[in-house]
Amino acid sequence: MDRYLVFGHPVRHSKSPFIHTLFARQTQQELEYGLAEPAVDEFAQALRTFFDQGGKGCNVTVPFKEQAFTLVDRLSPRAKRAGAVNTIKLTDDGVLLGDNTDGAGLVADLKSHGVTLADSRILLLGAGGAARGALAPLLAELPSELVIANRTHTKAQQLAAEFHDLGPVTAQAYEQLAVPFDLVINSTSASLQGELPPLAPALIHTDIAIYDMMYGASDTAFISWAKQHGARQTMDGLGMLVEQAAEAFTVWRGIRPGTKQVLRELKRNLGVI
Ligand code: ATR
Repeated sequence: MDRYLVFGHPVRHSKSPFIHTLFARQTQQELEYGLAEPAVDEFAQALRTFFDQGGKGCNVTVPFKEQAFTLVDRLSPRAKRAGAVNTIKLTDDGVLLGDNTDGAGLVADLKSHGVTLADSRILLLGAGGAARGALAPLLAELPSELVIANRTHTKAQQLAAEFHDLGPVTAQAYEQLAVPFDLVINSTSASLQGELPPLAPALIHTDIAIYDMMYGASDTAFISWAKQHGARQTMDGLGMLVEQAAEAFTVWRGIRPGTKQVLRELKRNLGVI
């Protein structure tokens, strides 16, 4: 049976085996999908061993995505732009192909929620790996403006300069930000510590769409805050998780699974519905 897995540390609570098992059932593909949690300095060896022993492909999550970028034989254009790899496929001619499906997953999830990206004004919070992965796919949707704000402003400036060739992207300090934005995407890890990015409440209005790449069984700190200040459309990163997985599954198997039912089952599994 074809073998796949996700590398991460920690990875025990990963939902990827659940998601890919449902995709495989739905598309009638014979495969198994497991977990691997190598020590942080043993990832390269573990990756090599997995493919030497017949593995067909894997996902890579925190903290290995940047390292995976350096370990594959070939990179897809979107992985090159993201500077990180979350999906690896062993091709028929024995090449390890590194891809990144995170940004595509974000865009697919935004669209499935009916969010219009073309001609929109987008505010992206954070300038780490998650923001970097999102930039090219977001700019490909032709927003009229994409502003990056980050606690460490110089990192936002560097990122804006790096992606400037792809569209109208600029950096602004949090305290400079002024309405109106149509969509705010939180790519910071602040919600993990129950913290908030330092955003002025005046930026939130009833027609704004709020997206937090984080998710949990209840609202993230950022989503709760945005709702308190009047946001009506809020989305968390669970849909992005399922969509990036669907994109990875498509890379491996050449068949695109449906995501709606799987997302529903995942919510049920997490106790969200
Ligand atoms: P990831 O790969 O998930 O993007 P990362 O590369 O460590 O993780 O980046 C985390 C991002 O969250 C950074 O932009 C970080 O801001 P700094 O560059 O100033 O460190 C941002 N971040 C983390 N905690 C935050 C907080 N409490 N408030 C605002 N931004 C925060």
